[in-house]
Amino acid sequence: MNSFPLLLTLLIASSGVTATKFPSCAPFPSSLIEFSSGFKEPLAPLVRDEYTANFIQHKWNRNLSHITAGYISNSPSVGIVVADEASDSGLASSLFNYANTTQDGLVDNTLKSYSSNSSAVEVWRGYVNSGFPLFSQDFLVTNNAIFGGLVKRRFNEGYVASWNIMYQGAIPVTVYVNNCNCVVGYDFFATGERTKVITEYFNIQSKS
Ligand SMILES: *[C@@H]1O[C@H](CO)[C@@H](O)[C@H](O)[C@H]1NC(C)=O
Ligand SMILES: *[C@@H]1O[C@H](CO)[C@@H](O)[C@H](O)[C@H]1NC(C)=O
Ligand SMILES: *[C@@H]1O[C@H](CO)[C@@H](O)[C@H](O)[C@H]1NC(C)=O
Repeated sequence: MNSFPLLLTLLIASSGVTATKFPSCAPFPSSLIEFSSGFKEPLAPLVRDEYTANFIQHKWNRNLSHITAGYISNSPSVGIVVADEASDSGLASSLFNYANTTQDGLVDNTLKSYSSNSSAVEVWRGYVNSGFPLFSQDFLVTNNAIFGGLVKRRFNEGYVASWNIMYQGAIPVTVYVNNCNCVVGYDFFATGERTKVITEYFNIQSKS
């Protein structure tokens, strides 16, 4: 079950869309290299926000270690994230409807799950703290993201840019963006639950 009440909800904001927002997949400029004399903090970029990807996610705290793999669809145009995943608790398909959220950021979630000893699907619906945020094109900009340096991530050749935001002023989130403006993963930790979550994407297909 997705019984991990984890934060990260609405990172959406309306976006001013222009035709030239993603000019190219040029290499990162040398001004982004930490400790170089030419360093200059870049402006937070827009990101490609309509995409599908395979993902792996590891979530842990003192009481649990949950590792899952699956396929995700991020679509701000319809306000929906769908995460299909396989883990030690079986198969699950989770739909997060960001058009229906509570004032404190909980998201309408419909969870269909299949346990290995049953052929029936279980369906549950309710509000949750989602570990699968809906990334909008301008969420780094509207959250005043701080550049965190160029880093290496699994499944990516070369470096990707890391960007730090404080979601809801309380949850430190690091988002990784490649030189084609694709989100390639994100990490966060929740101080209340003392829970850490790492998510990495591969096989990313951008439609925006
Ligand atoms: C499947 O296994 C779980 C854990 O052992 C158990 O709680 C559940 O009742 C079982 N479900 C069925 C349909 O046998
Ligand atoms: C909003 O989400 C809640 C919780 O999942 C659900 O009970 C309710 O029916 C949803 N409302 C609409 C209009 O979809
Ligand atoms: C872990 O379990 C203990 C005992 O049930 C509980 O008091 C504590 O709040 C739990 N911690 C987390 C991070 O869930």
